[in-house]
Amino acid sequence: MSNPDRTSNVHDARVARMWHQHLPAPHGGVSNSHVFRPVRGQDGPAIAMISQRAFLGGPDEASENDFLGKVSAILGGRYGRFMDTASLVHESSSGALDAALLITDYLPYACPVIALVVVEKAAQQRGVATALLLHSLAVLHQAGQSQCCARITQGNLASERLFQGCGFVPVLE
Ligand SMILES: CC(C)(COP(=O)(O)OP(=O)(O)OC[C@H]1O[C@@H](n2cnc3c(N)ncnc32)[C@H](O)[C@@H]1OP(=O)(O)O)[C@@H](O)C(=O)NCCC(=O)NCCS
Repeated sequence: MSNPDRTSNVHDARVARMWHQHLPAPHGGVSNSHVFRPVRGQDGPAIAMISQRAFLGGPDEASENDFLGKVSAILGGRYGRFMDTASLVHESSSGALDAALLITDYLPYACPVIALVVVEKAAQQRGVATALLLHSLAVLHQAGQSQCCARITQGNLASERLFQGCGFVPVLE
């Protein structure tokens, strides 16, 4: 995920592309097999920890400390108003937080933006991110939003497939 004031890392040549979706039209049904809860202020360190592990080796990898700063900035409204009703986390059967999706209303984009979506390595490729994203899009639509966007670093295949599968299309810039 590439945020408006991105954190520098070893992949400084990376290029982020804007993806966009008109709501409604989530592609596919919303799964009922995952249970989500709203993000709490104290979730920051856990989200930073799973982010450091999940992004490791990819174009957006960064230290846990960098992710903590980024998550704090998102929750604190520094990337636009934090949209708490559409931002969700998922907990494993043991109660540990293993996935998160954070949305802000970043004015320059003129619509809600997926500021972070992350799934713990061990929980990936089981549809958790798809279910999180479709659920959040449905909440945004119910709240009267008509569009949503995300900036995705080129080369992040899992992310591109996630957003494409949920009906997002890349914007020609
Ligand atoms: C991107 C990410 C959130 C996807 O989470 P997930 O729970 O594994 O995603 P899902 O299981 O819902 O799968 C979504 C799609 O991505 C594909 N996918 C997931 N992991 C993949 C991988 N490692 N390589 C290729 N495709 C992958 C799935 O096959 C699925 O595509 P399909 O519907 O065409 O079959 C997760 O890989 C992650 O946390 N990555 C690191 C953080 C990151 O890059 N976040 C996004 C920044 S924009």
